Amino acid sequence: MGRVVAIDTVMTAVPTNPSWAGAIATPASEFPRSALAILAGAIPTELQGSLYRNGPARLERQGQRVGHWFDGDGAILAVQFAAGEAQATYRYVQSAGYGAESAADQFLYGSYGSLPPGPIWQRWQAQFKNAANTSVLALPDRLLALWEGGMPHHLDLHTLDTAGIDTLDSLAANEPYSAHPKRHPQTGHIFNFGVMPGANATLNCYRSGPDGRIEKKSGIDLNGIPLIHDFVLADRYLVFCVPPVRLNALPAVLGLRSFSDALIWQPRHGTQLLVVDADTFEVVSWGETDAWFQWHFGRGYVDSYGDIVLEVVRYEDFATNQYLKEVASGATQTLVQGQLWRIRLNPQTAAIRDQVCLISQSCEFPVVPPTTELETAATYLSIHAPGVDTTGELFGAIAALTPKRTASLLRMPGLSAIHRSRCLHRTQTIRNKAGC
Ligand SMILES: [Fe+2]
Repeated sequence: MGRVVAIDTVMTAVPTNPSWAGAIATPASEFPRSALAILAGAIPTELQGSLYRNGPARLERQGQRVGHWFDGDGAILAVQFAAGEAQATYRYVQSAGYGAESAADQFLYGSYGSLPPGPIWQRWQAQFKNAANTSVLALPDRLLALWEGGMPHHLDLHTLDTAGIDTLDSLAANEPYSAHPKRHPQTGHIFNFGVMPGANATLNCYRSGPDGRIEKKSGIDLNGIPLIHDFVLADRYLVFCVPPVRLNALPAVLGLRSFSDALIWQPRHGTQLLVVDADTFEVVSWGETDAWFQWHFGRGYVDSYGDIVLEVVRYEDFATNQYLKEVASGATQTLVQGQLWRIRLNPQTAAIRDQVCLISQSCEFPVVPPTTELETAATYLSIHAPGVDTTGELFGAIAALTPKRTASLLRMPGLSAIHRSRCLHRTQTIRNKAGC
């Protein structure tokens, strides 16, 4: 009866770096295109192309630190591979807010987890900075730096020069474009969403051609203002898991609390499951299940029975937000554990047919390489290396999870902890990787 999931051994673990806090203690420095020295091994000559990474790079000015890891100014690392060599460029996204704060050499704006500077009676009209720090989308003629609270920034693919805001020929000023777009493996269409605040938020769905130009946009009414960070593209469906986190808008608007601190965990409401038709953007079904929170999803596909299968890193509550807030300070106290789950949904009812925990040890950032064979592709994710005292540590290793069809351990009713443990003991890491 079921499919099998096993975790493949890939490579021996390396101890984590306990000094991650040092990497964010001071702002990262830009550098022009430079050849990278190869410390060990060789770069395959057939490996050609560019790797782009984005992340919070400046978390302090004049000794003042941002209030949340999500508030650091975005900087892009581009690594170009060709002829067995690698060259890298590192540049901050020159957003309007970054430029103004650089000129003033002080923070001027609020952001997700940081209140605007100045007296409390001035905060209600303060501006917020687009940190452009969450991810990238590489298009044929440009690179987009993404941040889920606003519009993309347009960068040059080679120099990483910032050209300005990019509306994708469609976005209005109040229409955010979130940070985890998905490409359809067959059509090449790019799907994304954005949550527009209001008394009740609107979930905007976007579909672009491969050039990025938005060709379809539609809004879905939500209850309250939830935090939705990622979604699933499963062939002809978009799936949103709306966690029971709602913004207490008044203190946030008045500047009494940051948006992060004004987000309230309300588990009595459960997590809503929303299935949307990827062609029409019509709602196919709404459902509700147990309360959980998630940042990220792994693979999504429609199986041979017509059901949606998705992977998600689930948290029992919203304490993960507090943990990520603490990361900005260089020391974490809150313990959180995200687990990788696989969920099978009936798309017509949004009812869960079955669900199983694939990895019960703390993990995050599931990534599936671009492929049309999503059902059999590996999922790569960040995890703690075996034997590491995870207290206060960031993830220090990457695991590969490979679905196989030759056993059914994880789908068996009444799966015991021993069975699960055996699978987990087969988890090994492929390389050391500080940070996320
Ligand atoms: Fe993310």
